[in-house]
Amino acid sequence: MSAVKLQENLYSVGVLNPSLRVFDIIMESKYGTSYNAYLITGKKNILVDTVHEDYFEEYRANIESVVDLSQIDCLIMNHTEPDHSGSVAQLLSLNPNLEVYCTAPAKKYLSAIVNREFHCTTVKQGDKLGYGGGELEFIIAPLLHWPDSMFTWMPEHGVLFTCDFLGCHYCEPTMTDEGIHYPDAYWGEFAYYYRGIFGPFQPHVLAGLDKIRDLPLRMVCPSHGPCLKQNIRKCEELYRKWSTPAPDAPDGKKLAAILYVSAYGYTAKLAEAAREELLRDGRFRVEMRNIVFTPLEEAAALANRADLLLAGSCTINRDAPKIVWDLLASIDAIRSRGKSAGAFGSYGWSGEAVPMMKDRLVRLGYRFAGDGLRVNFMPRGEDLDAMRAYAAQAAENVK
Ligand code: FEO
Repeated sequence: MSAVKLQENLYSVGVLNPSLRVFDIIMESKYGTSYNAYLITGKKNILVDTVHEDYFEEYRANIESVVDLSQIDCLIMNHTEPDHSGSVAQLLSLNPNLEVYCTAPAKKYLSAIVNREFHCTTVKQGDKLGYGGGELEFIIAPLLHWPDSMFTWMPEHGVLFTCDFLGCHYCEPTMTDEGIHYPDAYWGEFAYYYRGIFGPFQPHVLAGLDKIRDLPLRMVCPSHGPCLKQNIRKCEELYRKWSTPAPDAPDGKKLAAILYVSAYGYTAKLAEAAREELLRDGRFRVEMRNIVFTPLEEAAALANRADLLLAGSCTINRDAPKIVWDLLASIDAIRSRGKSAGAFGSYGWSGEAVPMMKDRLVRLGYRFAGDGLRVNFMPRGEDLDAMRAYAAQAAENVK
């Protein structure tokens, strides 16, 4: 794709990657993606973000179709994940006088990515950079989705550069939302992208939206997918809706999730004893699932929403079964920190599943109750009493 003129003195100089099917190892990208980058021309020529290093030559050609690389004065890095910073080192090799503008965390990360000295101005909320046609203003918006993130506001044009925020892994050659050819596909990917990238950072999403609430936006230029012109408010409203916590249950009760597998029904008996105890406690709504018969997405959503998570597993060949690890791998480590959890299970030989689950849950940041509860084969009456006591112990950690 060649450079696209978006407005007077503003060009899209990024690249399309229509064939990408897995982004950053973890995200499916059914419709490819784009690495967006922008060029502002004026008395100063300013780049906003770069592209994945594999696409540097195409990026460079796009820039040089407008202005020679030697004429670029500044590079604004709104975020430094390597899909956006991967070409900085090559840019600096060709234009070592480039002044980079970024937040203090971004400078730290970028230094470790380019591994060389570079001219850098770290910016704070409200700092400005003149380019001849007006002033760019920096809006610090951390944890969207890295500590380094910020927005750049171009008031004369009504343009906001948001890097990942409000973007989408969707390859649209027209580069704006006025030309989306398959809107249903786009909106599906827009939601998937939000869940994958911003779902763990919901309070920061709301804070970021508040910071741009009063801006007279005419165009939002993200770092992936089409620039927004028609759908700015719709996209903001969707982010706000998806990031707003569900209201407390009308009864004010906390949510306890008991998620387990059971080879012969023994661990299921422990789960039922835990459920009885938590219901007796009276402070909890209890959702209990045998995860073998529960879609992973549903079980993971319950685990992520729960104020108290009790994970149950039998032990098979000195390990918890894979389905348990699939669930524990789906827990959001950002939101789990400080919540209460416990683990339990029946075993036959040696019972490694419970301590292994404990290790994972502790590393996710949960307040874990004791050492978990293990029972050899069929739970007896005293084992069920011990399970009830263990559930009560884990419940005490829920404030
Ligand atoms: Fe598109 Fe956080 O990088």
